[in-house]
Amino acid sequence: HRVAVLHGINLDALDRRPAQHYGGLTYTQLEQRITAFGRELGLTVACFQSNHEGEFVEELHKTPDYADGIVINPGAWTHYAWSLRDAVEIAGLPTIEVHLSDVDAREAFRQVSVLEGVRAGKVSGRGPDGYRDALALLKEAW
Ligand code: DQA
Repeated sequence: HRVAVLHGINLDALDRRPAQHYGGLTYTQLEQRITAFGRELGLTVACFQSNHEGEFVEELHKTPDYADGIVINPGAWTHYAWSLRDAVEIAGLPTIEVHLSDVDAREAFRQVSVLEGVRAGKVSGRGPDGYRDALALLKEAW
């Protein structure tokens, strides 16, 4: 199976964000970890990151052309960008939401997710290992 791993706004600058929440690794290192998790689980991973909502939505539209499932960390868009919910619905692929930090134990605004109701699962607060959990959840969803 093939998986589109999509990262949204500000995640390209991961190593410049608070290490207590995000662990201090670079976005490139995170991609490498996720690709290795995929390999262990027999999955092919294609990574994409954008800070532009329109570009991100267009990538979601394309996912059925190259993937069987989606792992998505939209960053702060998670909490207010309703266009992403519609785009995940359009993609029509099993989708797992991931957050490095424990969004439910931080500020109240992070407890809202626009993806609630359209995604098959959510992993948060497990750091990079959460992506392995997300890939394993996708395997159960197929
Ligand atoms: C995040 C959590 C979001 O609340 C935040 O805006 C991010 C990263 C995470 O991976 O923990 O940019 O999605």
